[in-house]
Amino acid sequence: MVYYADYLALDTVLNAQHPESDKAGKPAHEELLFIITHQTFELWFKQVLHELGSVITLFDTDYIRESDVALAQARILRVNRIMEHLVNQWDLIETMTPGEFMDFRALLNPASGFQSAQWRVLEKTLGLPENKRVLKHYTDALSDAHRAIVEKAGSQTLFNVVQRWLEKTPFLESGEYAFWDSYRQAVAAMLDHDRDEVRTLATAEHRDPTDALNQIDSIERGFQALFDPTEYSGLVEQGHRRMSQRATLAILFISTYRDYPLLQAPYRLLDAIIELDKLVSIWRYRHTLMVSRMIGMRVGTGGSSGSEYLMQTTVRQRVFDDVTSLSSFLLPTSARPTLPADVANRLQFVNEASAS
Ligand code: HEM
Repeated sequence: MVYYADYLALDTVLNAQHPESDKAGKPAHEELLFIITHQTFELWFKQVLHELGSVITLFDTDYIRESDVALAQARILRVNRIMEHLVNQWDLIETMTPGEFMDFRALLNPASGFQSAQWRVLEKTLGLPENKRVLKHYTDALSDAHRAIVEKAGSQTLFNVVQRWLEKTPFLESGEYAFWDSYRQAVAAMLDHDRDEVRTLATAEHRDPTDALNQIDSIERGFQALFDPTEYSGLVEQGHRRMSQRATLAILFISTYRDYPLLQAPYRLLDAIIELDKLVSIWRYRHTLMVSRMIGMRVGTGGSSGSEYLMQTTVRQRVFDDVTSLSSFLLPTSARPTLPADVANRLQFVNEASAS
């Protein structure tokens, strides 16, 4: 017979808190909160990895069914709700004052969240590339066993399987239909309109429009490069873009015609992934704010520069910023090119054959 406490292994879980301050004979009341907060974070990381692992397995195949796209989206949305919960969990630890934390902080040296193997596995599972890492030697602080786990992780990543799936989007070239030519013209017209607005506003407000115009020029150059394989590989080599050219064009196509039935599920999945990337950044940012409140500019117990390092990871370590940045090239729905009847017709029907 299943017994509640046995099923949940409560004897193990509820006896897994061993404050260092108790061991040192100077009990610090807040250390239990500190330990339980970390443990619950780690438990939720385990659930997040479970969900992401299943999405990767669903997508790590040559044929992805429409129903699997919907299932993947549901699981990513679950991860997003967990991440929101974890973002709010920082409020709990902030009920501890910096002074109360100081009562036991020195006893924890050199332990640090820096040694969270699950967090590293999570970063790698999402697809964080090594060249985006703020600290290259981030595994040095891990035990040999944990380093081995982290090094093994990430052989398949959410980024890679999603990219491969996008590359197989049908309708990117369709017979005589010069979709991309029309799209390029529409974007050029949109950017010309932006330039006119910048000039008009600058004249009215007696401002110099040069910077804003340069920014629009740079968007246009980035956009043109999407259609030139050589230029595009240059952008990838210089680290300005990461997604393949074909996957990038697929995102633009799906985003532009997202209201067609066949593209609704892919669009919702992409949207959920963008939200996940944002929530991971918010998690990092809230951690950074909490850390600067707790320890100010002090270095971390893991030996990093502390909140300054954490802030850099928030800004630099985005995994799907390629996808988010494509919004610069999105057209208003009213300005998008009309699809030829046969393509529009095929996009009306969701069937398993067209989903691969
Ligand atoms: C008073 C509470 C906390 C303080 C002062 C704090 C401080 C820090 C500092 C300074 C770092 C940078 C590495 C270092 O040099 O140590 C760090 C990293 C980290 N902490 Fe915390 N932390 C706290 C709570 C937590 C909690 C509750 C978690 C939940 C698991 C956590 C997870 C992490 C993770 C995953 C990293 C690695 C981040 C990265 O390298 O991108 N921290 N923490």
